[in-house]
Amino acid sequence: MDNVSIASELPLRTELYSNHALTVFTDHRSPVDIAKDVACLKSAQGDDLPFMVMDAGRVMAQMAEWRRLLPRVEPFYAVKCNNDPVLMRLLADQGAGFDCASKGEIDQILEHGLAPPEKIIYANPCKTRNYIKHAARCQVNMMTFDCEDELHKVKSFHPHAQMILRIAVSDPTAQCPLNIKFGCDPIQAGPALLAAAAELSVDVVGISFHVGSGCNDPTAYAVAIGHARRLFDLGDSLGHQMTILDLGGGYPGHPTENITFPQIAGMINGALDEYFPEVGYNAVRVIGEPGRFFASAAFTLVTNVIAKTKVPASRITQNEHDATTDGFMYYLNDGVYGSFNCILYDHNRPTGRPLFERPEDTDASRQTWAALWGPTCDGLDQITSKCRLRRLNEGDWVAWDNMGAYTCAAGSEFNGFPRPNIYYFIADKEWQSLREQSLSSPDGQEDEIRSVASSFSSCSGFDSAFGDEYDNFVY
Ligand SMILES: Cc1ncc(COP(=O)(O)O)c(C=O)c1O
Repeated sequence: MDNVSIASELPLRTELYSNHALTVFTDHRSPVDIAKDVACLKSAQGDDLPFMVMDAGRVMAQMAEWRRLLPRVEPFYAVKCNNDPVLMRLLADQGAGFDCASKGEIDQILEHGLAPPEKIIYANPCKTRNYIKHAARCQVNMMTFDCEDELHKVKSFHPHAQMILRIAVSDPTAQCPLNIKFGCDPIQAGPALLAAAAELSVDVVGISFHVGSGCNDPTAYAVAIGHARRLFDLGDSLGHQMTILDLGGGYPGHPTENITFPQIAGMINGALDEYFPEVGYNAVRVIGEPGRFFASAAFTLVTNVIAKTKVPASRITQNEHDATTDGFMYYLNDGVYGSFNCILYDHNRPTGRPLFERPEDTDASRQTWAALWGPTCDGLDQITSKCRLRRLNEGDWVAWDNMGAYTCAAGSEFNGFPRPNIYYFIADKEWQSLREQSLSSPDGQEDEIRSVASSFSSCSGFDSAFGDEYDNFVY
């Protein structure tokens, strides 16, 4: 096939990174370029399984953006968002800490040497007592709480815990509001909980909040930082050593959302200057728990049309006027029980497009009404109820951008459909910079970054880069 032979001329090699193959290109490649090459090769091999491509350079660009716009805030990546091992290693190599919700997440960080215990926050206000004991054994001390019962549990099972009080300050318009479930009232309950902790001799070291995942109103951060300042003063007066301000998550993962990261960063920096100026508060460690900010845009999902049905368009539009026009129901091989669980749980509305563009893609007169379904037998498994698309055929590939946040992390294999394989890539310039960062960091893991370039030194072709290990991981 044409594309396979084009790919065979690509200057590429493979590095082993976090035990996964990372394809390094000496020239610049977009996720769509890579996806097209992978799709061509899979089609040529009779493989129509869905897959993802992960652009490691995008994660690095996000980290650079974070450090540029929020220089005072240490990122503690929210593992729940996507615990992909390559993503996590990339973040660790660039100095990130981690926000963990459970024993399993803490173990993933510690067992892979991604960060020392002091760069982990156990940021789940309601913790299993056995997990608290486990955190104590692992010396993970920073943890959040929002009620008195949790203080009693922690006093019994983790005497060295450094507690961080989570207050509820909400952006009600957030994609996923969180403050109905977590966080205490900052005016009434917050002071009482600081006093109760002092009484119990449980150390409180700071204040945290989460304005809502997928924040739309940045003023919520400023309001929360104002409350935190008042509670810092109160905590200090009660004998707590208040040193940690945790800004939680909520930062957008890609620029098409309603709000931009620079807008949120501007609001946060202004509030920090007002309530925690560097002069006087330089001992305060400010941390954040970004999830989607790092994960979303780095992953592109590619699904395959496994079946299609022609129907009267009215069945899709629910409009009798469309009864005489053709509409199509396309069945894809990933759905809401897999990567598209983000539709149900993250209130996301992904939009797909044919991976291989044609002129009619943008010609409205050649588009029809279409509904997109997942592959399971469940009627709930619908990805898009109604959209305009050019006619697709069985075997066509459909691409979905920004599919890294709250997608694969919660996907299942319900009905026996496998999760998408992930192909990782990076440009050589970024690879070199990553190596420098990871070698210069105190936790640098040179032995984990083992070049396997020699096995592809002849670069005889794209096929050989896949080789026998194609099914495992190699792009
Ligand atoms: C405690 C906590 N921190 C951080 C996050 C990450 O949020 P986001 O992905 O919006 O940055 C979440 C998401 O639910 C969370 O519950």
